[in-house]
Amino acid sequence: MHIPVLLEEVLEHLNPQANENFIDCTIGEAGHSLAILERNKPKGKVLGIDWEAENIKKLEEDRLIPVCGNFANLKNIVRQHNFQPISGILLDLGFSSWHTDESGKGFSFQQDEPLIMRYAEDGLTAAEIVNQWPEKEIGDILKEYGEETFARKIAKEIIRQRKIKSIIATTELVETIKKAVPGWYQHKRIHFATRTFQALRIATNQELENLKEVLPQALEILKPEGKLIIISFHSLEDRIVKNFLREKAKDNILKIITKKPITASIEEIKFNPRSRSAKMRVGQKS
Ligand SMILES: C[S@@+](CC[C@H](N)C(=O)[O-])C[C@H]1O[C@@H](n2cnc3c(N)ncnc32)[C@H](O)[C@@H]1O
Repeated sequence: MHIPVLLEEVLEHLNPQANENFIDCTIGEAGHSLAILERNKPKGKVLGIDWEAENIKKLEEDRLIPVCGNFANLKNIVRQHNFQPISGILLDLGFSSWHTDESGKGFSFQQDEPLIMRYAEDGLTAAEIVNQWPEKEIGDILKEYGEETFARKIAKEIIRQRKIKSIIATTELVETIKKAVPGWYQHKRIHFATRTFQALRIATNQELENLKEVLPQALEILKPEGKLIIISFHSLEDRIVKNFLREKAKDNILKIITKKPITASIEEIKFNPRSRSAKMRVGQKS
């Protein structure tokens, strides 16, 4: 099961009151949403969006409106459901534990699965990137999205390997990465495939582009004094959020509530290692 990250901190800042409405743009297994629904009784609703149809299928809850879609289309989704007024919007970015543990879509380098890495039912797959993109572009995404030291070497090895046989499974990709990186890199605490897998996931789902699209829409549809909360797990995501909040604060469209990002406590990290890299920022619409 996916353990919601920074749950107490999210609730403290959203501060849900009776009958208020909220949007969870990344509902996943509804960890945050269920806690919100406990507090906005008896008539408050949550519009819960997820791009992953399997997550949406599992949700059946009173006062919860589940929607399968990309949060980059937030305004349209909200319009279609005539959902208002909105007191708070939450984005808890990235993938859920279900994706790595159960989806069978190749999100984890620890399982032997097809290289899909896609939240949506159709569209680009990681296998297409690995087998069709030019070496330079593969190297670029590994460097930029994965901050991978051996980006160019791995890209080169991917091209060499795919000329012999297409790389279609996670295990084949892991073997390819292994051939490209030095021995000492294979014995580090962080697995040598971590950064490549992260980069491919971000590129496959266009995660940074979606984030850039959703932020202005979220701010626009919030009611005055409504809260916008973003939890990110990657420095590039956090930079996008930080710059957006700063820019809008300069224009007096919102107030920055978190001068510095909120991070997980040592206790939370022990209990849920996934929270280690979480950074939460909060803005309040003017
Ligand atoms: C970290 S999980 C959310 C976990 C959730 N807060 C919980 O407590 O269970 C992120 C979720 O966002 C979804 N997601 C990622 N990108 C998305 C997008 N562009 N639009 C909608 N959902 C997205 C993923 O499918 C995943 O289920």
